Amino acid sequence: MSETVLLVGGGGREHAIARALADSDAELYACAGNRNPGIAGLADGFETLDTSNPAAVTSYADEIDATLAVIGPEGPLAAGVGDALDDAGIYAFGPNESEARIETDKAFQRRFMQSNDIPGCPDFETFEDVEAACDYVDEYDGDLAVKPAGLTGGKGVRVIGDQVTPEEAKEYIRESGHDRIVLEERLVGEEFTVQALVANGQVRVTPAVQDHKRAYEGDEGPNTGGMGSYSDATLELPFMSREDYMEAVDVLEATVDALDGYKGVLYGQFMLTAEGVKVVEFNARFGDPEAMNTLPVLNTDFLDVLTAARDGEDLPKLSFAPKATVCKYAVPEGYPVDPSAGTKLAINPDNAGDALLFYASVDDREDGIYTTTSRAFAVVGIADTITEAEEIAEDALAVAGDDGLDMRHDIGKPELIQQRIDHVAELR
Ligand code: AMP
Ligand code: GLY
Repeated sequence: MSETVLLVGGGGREHAIARALADSDAELYACAGNRNPGIAGLADGFETLDTSNPAAVTSYADEIDATLAVIGPEGPLAAGVGDALDDAGIYAFGPNESEARIETDKAFQRRFMQSNDIPGCPDFETFEDVEAACDYVDEYDGDLAVKPAGLTGGKGVRVIGDQVTPEEAKEYIRESGHDRIVLEERLVGEEFTVQALVANGQVRVTPAVQDHKRAYEGDEGPNTGGMGSYSDATLELPFMSREDYMEAVDVLEATVDALDGYKGVLYGQFMLTAEGVKVVEFNARFGDPEAMNTLPVLNTDFLDVLTAARDGEDLPKLSFAPKATVCKYAVPEGYPVDPSAGTKLAINPDNAGDALLFYASVDDREDGIYTTTSRAFAVVGIADTITEAEEIAEDALAVAGDDGLDMRHDIGKPELIQQRIDHVAELR
């Protein structure tokens, strides 16, 4: 049977998913709140709609006779789009609303880890009362991370001793208007991501990736959705051992065992600390940018994973090209504090050289493609080493120029990788 796949979402991550499906013999349709020219160019049809409206997505899926759906972002998962598609008889690769709480409710996530004895859970307390949370900040012996329990686009966490003082943390708790707060032990170390494809009780893991959340070079400035990321030609990253990677895999496997019939991507954000691997958070989807590192080196046909998941079969073993990748986002100048939109992009797929170009949030006008106030596009270099991959990404950014755009040139550079290695060596 030939497959008709509906891809939900219109960012860089979804452009990477579209590319992974474009080579298979599926018909591909996509829907998103914004028209992504990269996805639209690969798909047989593209509909602009509110992807957090389950009825709108299901109705489009019916219209195109979708046999499968892949949900990219967390918003539709949190809105129950996966449940609605499943109810309509269209298998959605993405968890249902209640299982997506592993991402969408950080209080649930920590309690779930604790009650199921999942390794790597930091000390934490959950609060529904602002003043009780502030008292805990005063009494706690050590630094805390303040986390609103709900979704914040990666921008809600404040870490005492890193971004804020205890007084500023209390002010944030009082003024940010979040009604449920998690306070947890500050984890110190190096962060990395491992994403797993999950269905039918099986967990197929992908190579580790390191994202860079801070807006400015040298890991300065506010948190963003992610400014860029790299992976190595091996499963682990240069600052980690294979054992560290396997510790993270054990956490993902224990989590899937404890969940009831989870399907989709389980994304683990880990901190490699002096005490081993700890969980910063889980996401219920591919990372953005991490999907742009992972999917281009996946040799296994992604469609085969999706159909096996739907049909209750064993998921295929994943095979990856032994290549390093470096992904760098270009964002509108001033992002994320005061981004200015409206810059016409000079880069396009034909002049990006050896790099892959993934569009994120752009305005596709008749006379060209323009920036909005969110991350605009990413370039990905793929090569034998991180250093070579970084150079390929930089060559593409040089084509894009820096008129109206910001980017972190330091991501993937040898000096930054060495800093990470030194940091972990100091911890151990
Ligand atoms: P999250 O929204 O949970 O992804 O958190 C955003 C970022 O905040 C993470 O990528 C970490 O850099 C930081 N963070 C979250 N929790 C902690 C923690 N317990 N200790 C230190 N940093 C944290
Ligand atoms: N790169 C972080 C995220 O996708 O949440």
